[in-house]
Amino acid sequence: MLIKDISLTNFRNHSQYHLDCKPDTTLILGENGCGKTSVLEAIYILTRGKSFRATDSDIIKRGEPFYRIAMSYDTGEQISAAYDGTTKTFKTVDKTSKRLPSKNKYPVILFEPHDLNLVGGPPSRRRDYFDRIFSDISEDYATSLSKYNKALRQRNELLKSERLSPTDLFAWNLLLADLGTTLSKYRDVYTALINQTINVVYHSIADNNDSVHLAYSTPVPHITKEQYLKSLESSFEKDRILGYTSFGVQRDTIDFIFNDNLAGGSASRGETRSIILALKFVESNIITDKLNKKPIILLDDVFSELDESRRKCLVNNFKNNQVIITSVEDFTY
Ligand SMILES: Nc1ncnc2c1ncn2[C@@H]1O[C@H](COP(=O)(O)OP(=O)(O)OP(=O)(O)O)[C@@H](O)[C@H]1O
Ligand SMILES: [Mg+2]
Repeated sequence: MLIKDISLTNFRNHSQYHLDCKPDTTLILGENGCGKTSVLEAIYILTRGKSFRATDSDIIKRGEPFYRIAMSYDTGEQISAAYDGTTKTFKTVDKTSKRLPSKNKYPVILFEPHDLNLVGGPPSRRRDYFDRIFSDISEDYATSLSKYNKALRQRNELLKSERLSPTDLFAWNLLLADLGTTLSKYRDVYTALINQTINVVYHSIADNNDSVHLAYSTPVPHITKEQYLKSLESSFEKDRILGYTSFGVQRDTIDFIFNDNLAGGSASRGETRSIILALKFVESNIITDKLNKKPIILLDDVFSELDESRRKCLVNNFKNNQVIITSVEDFTY
């Protein structure tokens, strides 16, 4: 499915904006602050359900009462979203809903300069990033994650209450143990899936013998539900003092390993760029394979970060996808 066009009303700095998208590569060119990333943000909301960088109230054009964005696909399908300061509404021909219906979700791969901080940034950032990829691959993962986070918040809330006995937490412990083991299994399988190809893909970009893979680590690997439950129960006193849940998959880490060392502390800026490019290529391949849909590629200002050979690599790799690029300078590719 290809995006045909998109319109924005009162969205960030845009009062009215319209973009016709080409089936292959569309370039949004303009100076800093003219609203390029905002266009990608609108596409992201209409394909993924929410912004990658802000809440809806940040997005409404200052001083205006609402924003509206509308997009049409080459299949004739249309989708719009409107936010009036309190409620967001998605509309398709036959349906109005507060969330983007899952049948209207479409995979996108977003590449922004910020992504280069993924390699060396804090673990939570990589966890969030991979959670998003895994949620795209599996709806069961997405649901389990959302239920897990909700249960964790509720358990943490209870831990702060004055009078609390271990049995008060039982229902939450049980739920966390169940969902936590599920998430851990998925993370294990999906990092292994990425590892099947990331090194080869990296070589196609960097053309040398360096090695790259992901390392998944969890507080207790291959743990059963019963063991998980026991660990939660035995951390009761500690958690009471801390005021939050200290055991569980919210502590998992997924790290990039570069030549047997943590890439965060060893890979150069250029090597980091190649690692992220490789990740995006693998992400796209896995999504195409698993969902049988070609993801839309949104490249926000990344060409300025890449040298000539990596730009070529990027363009070549996504030559069969619909690509939307923002840039402050024109370039040949
Ligand atoms: N709610 C809002 N109302 C009005 N203007 C806004 C709002 N939010 C952001 N802006 C402004 O909108 C402009 C567009 O932001 P955007 O990030 O899309 O620009 P950009 O073209 O991607 O810039 P850059 O090249 O620096 O990345 C910015 O000047 C920003 O300050
Ligand atoms: Mg921008």
